[in-house]
Amino acid sequence: MVTGGAGYIGSHTIRQLQRSGYSVVVVDNLSRGYRAALPEGITFYHTDIGDTQRIQEICSQEQVDAVIHFAALIEVGISQKEPFSFYENNVKQTLGLLAGMRRSGVRRMIFSSTAAVYGVTEPKALREESPKAPASVYGRSKYMIEQILSDLSMVGELDVIALRYFNAAGADVSGDIGESHRPETHLVPLILQVALGQRPSISVFGNDYPTPDGTCIRDYIHVTDLAEAHVMALRYLEQGGASDAFNVGSGCGYSVQEVIACCREVTGHPIPTHHAPRRDGDVPVLLADTQRIQQALRWLPQYNLRQIVETAWHWHSRHPHGFPLP
Ligand SMILES: NC(=O)c1ccc[n+]([C@@H]2O[C@H](COP(=O)([O-])OP(=O)(O)OC[C@H]3O[C@@H](n4cnc5c(N)ncnc54)[C@H](O)[C@@H]3O)[C@@H](O)[C@H]2O)c1
Repeated sequence: MVTGGAGYIGSHTIRQLQRSGYSVVVVDNLSRGYRAALPEGITFYHTDIGDTQRIQEICSQEQVDAVIHFAALIEVGISQKEPFSFYENNVKQTLGLLAGMRRSGVRRMIFSSTAAVYGVTEPKALREESPKAPASVYGRSKYMIEQILSDLSMVGELDVIALRYFNAAGADVSGDIGESHRPETHLVPLILQVALGQRPSISVFGNDYPTPDGTCIRDYIHVTDLAEAHVMALRYLEQGGASDAFNVGSGCGYSVQEVIACCREVTGHPIPTHHAPRRDGDVPVLLADTQRIQQALRWLPQYNLRQIVETAWHWHSRHPHGFPLP
């Protein structure tokens, strides 16, 4: 069962699960996702994850073996303005989901966590044991869930892998699905909106960071690589692997200016920029150390930044307004 499967990463993971022979059912309340992001013919439940009774029924009826849990509110900026809705939707509703799983005897979960759980202090790659000190309500809601899941696994109720994603980007090579967040806050789609003529220029927040070109460095991971990490984490649990948390990033850092340059090359558009002040909470460098997932799952990313931008451009140029609104 994939929760939040109508969203960006969920819809890509469903494709990867199906390519690997898994049979998938989807639960999504469509508060953010799109029916059109789902493969034709898939079993879809238009349900909130917090509806314990319904989750229990679905798990029993569909003989669910494992849950991949993407469903969440994800906009960091909004989480700072509306903390209650984040704790309610992300933490409380996850408890509802866990209760439904528990009642129907489902005891495996892959959980979407985030690099936002770390308290970032040094410009070096983050390891899983690096200090946790989320700077946003969003990050804290995810870390709370990680802690709940870790306690459930400690007492033997659940086997769980928390995957801490860095910056997910790119789109399925088919160009049929891709990123369609409303509001969009992620760098690659925002830059490509300039190339599509939907915004005049891209804001670069801060150009005086202690990085080679002064702009922030981030770790971009292709959504299909991320999707594959979920399939491999699921297999790992099926084969008796122990509960754990893994970073999922490329391990390579690119500055905002480097990403813009790559988008210029791919689209052939000049993509004007303008400088804006630093944003609160932005750190100079955010980079994943991925040794743990490489060792435990034998997972390695296959896509580089150029391919991330090419696949994203393929999707956005074919669907300039994303998925249609319901
Ligand atoms: N996009 C990134 O770069 C990134 C980075 C780190 C972590 N994550 C995590 O990955 C997960 C997926 O992110 P995404 O970019 O695909 O987000 P998304 O908004 O595209 O997808 C989330 C999906 O969850 C659904 N949903 C939300 N609350 C729900 C609820 N209570 N019940 C049922 N469905 C619900 C939405 O309708 C949507 O389809 C999230 O948990 C997010 O925190 C994303």
